[in-house]
Amino acid sequence: MLQFINQLPKAELHLHIEGSFEPELMFEIAKRNNIEIKYNSVEEVKEAYKFDCLQDFLDIYYAGAGVLTYERDFYDLTYSYLEKCAEQNVRHTEIMFDPQTHTHRGISFETVINGISKACEEAKKKLGVTSLLIMSYLRHLSEKDAFKTLEQSLPYKHLIKAVGLDSSEMGNPPSKFEKVFAASVKEGYIPVAHAGEEGPAEYIWEALNLLDIKRIDHGNNCFEDDLIEEIVKRDIALTVCPLSNTALQVVDDLKNHPIKKMMAKGLKVTVNSDDPAYFGGQVNQNFIEIQEALDLSKADLYEFAKNSFQYSLLDEDVKREYIEELDAFYLENR
Ligand code: ADE
Ligand code: ZN
Repeated sequence: MLQFINQLPKAELHLHIEGSFEPELMFEIAKRNNIEIKYNSVEEVKEAYKFDCLQDFLDIYYAGAGVLTYERDFYDLTYSYLEKCAEQNVRHTEIMFDPQTHTHRGISFETVINGISKACEEAKKKLGVTSLLIMSYLRHLSEKDAFKTLEQSLPYKHLIKAVGLDSSEMGNPPSKFEKVFAASVKEGYIPVAHAGEEGPAEYIWEALNLLDIKRIDHGNNCFEDDLIEEIVKRDIALTVCPLSNTALQVVDDLKNHPIKKMMAKGLKVTVNSDDPAYFGGQVNQNFIEIQEALDLSKADLYEFAKNSFQYSLLDEDVKREYIEELDAFYLENR
């Protein structure tokens, strides 16, 4: 099973690049930028990664991102994640980045997008991993601030496929961002959003009806009959992140994770890492642990992988090529 998971061609659709920042690289970049970090060793950092809830994690995550200063830092961060993709047979990835985390510290939008996108270009050539970028608005900040970010992104529109919504969910409902999402769609960005991670089903309804999202990030709290019916009708996928859910105590134990129940209701689910440096594993580790906890079959894992290509934001012909590759693998290895 381990080998099957490692070799399974797959896409990752829910990944925050700032959340892929491994402590080893954090120390290296802090050193070369002459920035003090409050931990003395990698072990000490890892010890601090124990969270009671989403906000607990976000405080540490934003502090960690604070050492990213130059284009090279964003490049190294992104390339390092893409190398891990290649090792795990992640053939395609859709990377979220949070411009406001950096522009609020005086780092230019240009520095961020150039570092990330150049790494993506290089990885496509050298590693054969394709990627798309999702610019995520921070929901704890104002809509006005999100509008400013949208404005800053426009010269780089050709590098960005979609807009997302992340950060502190409770008290920051999708309705707060209705206008900026409409403006983003007008500019050609595809809308996705975190919804129902800690927030109620009502937030998922809002994300669907007010933001017109094309994918739901997390969606754990979707269990209302008419909501499930609506998601199925719209043919929208959920980007589920098992190890994130247990790390942030959204789910108490992987054995109680709702992913199987979601599948049984006809929902299209994918498996992702969210913030792998903080939550105990890359995407394949998420596959391994959820498979073990729920005794999932190879057919279940194949379904996750197929959904990951089918519900990616790639063009249909590229999706088809990846699915053919996946089907050939599955035929040989099921
Ligand atoms: N930003 C990074 N990871 C996040 C998560 N799991 N939920 C909301 N915002 C995030
Ligand atoms: Zn996330």
